[in-house]
Amino acid sequence: MPALAAVRGFKDILPHEIGPWTLIEGKARDLARRFGFLEIRPPVLERTELFARGIGESTDIVEKEMYTMDDRGGGRVTLRPEATAGIARAVIEHGILQTRKTARLFFLGPMFRYERPQKGRLRQFHQLDCEIFGDPGPWSDAEVISLLWSFLTELGAQDLTLAVNTLGCPKCRPLFREALVEHLSAGRASLCEDCIRRLERNPMRVLDCKNPGCRSLALSAPRIPDFACPECRAHFAGVLEALSSLGLEPVLDPLLVRGLDYYARTAFEVLAGGLGAQNAVAGGGRYDGLLAALGGPDLPGIGFAAGLERLALLLPERPAAPGPDFWLAPLCPEAVGPLFRLAGFLRGKGLSVLADWEPGSLKSRLKKADKANASKCLVLGADELQGGRVLVRDLKTGEQSLASLADLSPLPAPAGLDAAPAAGPELRGGGA
Ligand code: HAM
Repeated sequence: MPALAAVRGFKDILPHEIGPWTLIEGKARDLARRFGFLEIRPPVLERTELFARGIGESTDIVEKEMYTMDDRGGGRVTLRPEATAGIARAVIEHGILQTRKTARLFFLGPMFRYERPQKGRLRQFHQLDCEIFGDPGPWSDAEVISLLWSFLTELGAQDLTLAVNTLGCPKCRPLFREALVEHLSAGRASLCEDCIRRLERNPMRVLDCKNPGCRSLALSAPRIPDFACPECRAHFAGVLEALSSLGLEPVLDPLLVRGLDYYARTAFEVLAGGLGAQNAVAGGGRYDGLLAALGGPDLPGIGFAAGLERLALLLPERPAAPGPDFWLAPLCPEAVGPLFRLAGFLRGKGLSVLADWEPGSLKSRLKKADKANASKCLVLGADELQGGRVLVRDLKTGEQSLASLADLSPLPAPAGLDAAPAAGPELRGGGA
């Protein structure tokens, strides 16, 4: 029978690959604490309508990338392709902004998009998602961006570019849209098939197309910031000033539009060299109309999501998984029982213990202990058993000593294991 493999675009993260993930998740929690974000864990599955209304019917995500299915009880449900809509739903459903003016929430978890898998692009991928609800001011935009920047740089990611743009608001964006459609319609012949469709449904997405014909038309297109109303201009200037006061000088990119429809005003992305085609390691922006569009209060929001697979590719070092405190090595069958009880005692003291319960030669046991990256090896053979002692070998320094095994229950405190001086020439040099 052929062995089954994982679904295409869905990847195991194996024990030897977990190092960067532990680092990344630890740093995410550390920054969330420093910036006052509380953790939320929305469900993986939401009603399809949430994403259609939240992200936008005419976005690539909703049109062709969602894992959608019939719910057995009726209705359509979707594996979340992103976290913002679900978190916004939770904020509304639980009345989180009824008892407080603002809410800062973060989430670490998997997202699902049916995209063509390639380096840095999966069908199940993970994000750190940070959102501030209820705060309209430019300071919160700058705070969110600086959290993201600290997250990436404190982890050691290099060759990063922070790009920002303003996408205007429902007041000024229609003017831009009109001018853009006029410009794109005049150059319609050079647009790709997708963009001809976008021209009617979502013309701003044409600015994001990589096709050379679309790209050159985008470069000569009207610029969103030139159409921004005085309020949007003031907001954007405030964001840039606040960022500058933190030493952050982003690149202004008037073609940056993002792939989700809920954005208004600030939009930003962090691009990383060395990632190839999928070079956006994080993106976000302001979504002041989202809560209202989902049937909630007319309150603003701002946030970002960082792609953790892409970030893991950028990290300079992959720390080795830490080894156990002790490796237990029985050299004869009679030693297995006492060492098994010793393992229970040490684990009860909070120490990590591994063992191979098959008795074997000292040399092969020490080799295994070394391979497991253990700190110390506890060796029990017939001689030690007879003397009621266990040999303690420090695998980092090579030092050895003997500890009493007289009273296994209760056992001496682990620190006491170093107490007795080493003896027995055959054990002292064993395995070296
Ligand atoms: P997004 O730009 O769609 O934004 O995704 C954010 C990040 O997730 C991307 O920059 C990328 O690093 C990662 N990502 C996206 N798709 C994939 C994929 N197929 N494979 C691997 N990584 C991927 C959002 O999701 C918004 N919800 C961000 C946001 C939060 N805006 C406001 N708040």
